[in-house]
Amino acid sequence: MSHFPLPRPARIAVMASGRGSNLEALLKAFPHDNPLGHIVLVISDKREALALQKAVEAQVEAEYVPWPKSRDQGVAYKTGREQFERVAGQLLHEHRIDLILLAGFMRLLSPAFVQAWQGRILNIHPSLLPQFPGLNAQRQALEAGVSESGCTVHFVDAGMDTGPIILQRRVPVLPGDTEETLAARILEQEHLAYPEAVRRVLQGRV
Ligand code: GRF
Repeated sequence: MSHFPLPRPARIAVMASGRGSNLEALLKAFPHDNPLGHIVLVISDKREALALQKAVEAQVEAEYVPWPKSRDQGVAYKTGREQFERVAGQLLHEHRIDLILLAGFMRLLSPAFVQAWQGRILNIHPSLLPQFPGLNAQRQALEAGVSESGCTVHFVDAGMDTGPIILQRRVPVLPGDTEETLAARILEQEHLAYPEAVRRVLQGRV
């Protein structure tokens, strides 16, 4: 694994569990000929994730890495997370990855994994952190009655949505907003915020 400053072009992996619209924005911003960095690997813990299809369409290596349910196997007991991290870790190593981007990755990585990649894992979250970490951030914002929300790109630490903030983009919460309308307004900003935050990290401007 490399250290700061990141090499140019940096080799980037994205981890995603779902539809992959942030992945799409990142693939556009960091294609194979971007001298700053490019996405060379996409990992998903969900076989059916649209994100994997989007990676294939962009001719980027797409890997499904299962996160099996933990079960008690006596001496051989292993958590799903350990198995996922072992396989994902191998892939990251084989592809000589410099930077990991979590984009709708719905799992919490272990403190040991995060520590090994300290300062080289980013995440995007649909709220103005530290407000509304965790699941259903948009619903939390509506329930709290705030007049403004947005998205945050941050470095990942061992907590849930707690690492140092790189940048935020804000949107108004409008009267009559539903979870869906607010999520859509925030998502538009996510697609701008994530590439910009990655650019700053790659340029050493953070
Ligand atoms: C985004 O809202 C992101 O902030 C959150 O999960 C959602 C992923 O959406 N972490 P997509 O899969 O990138 O479309």
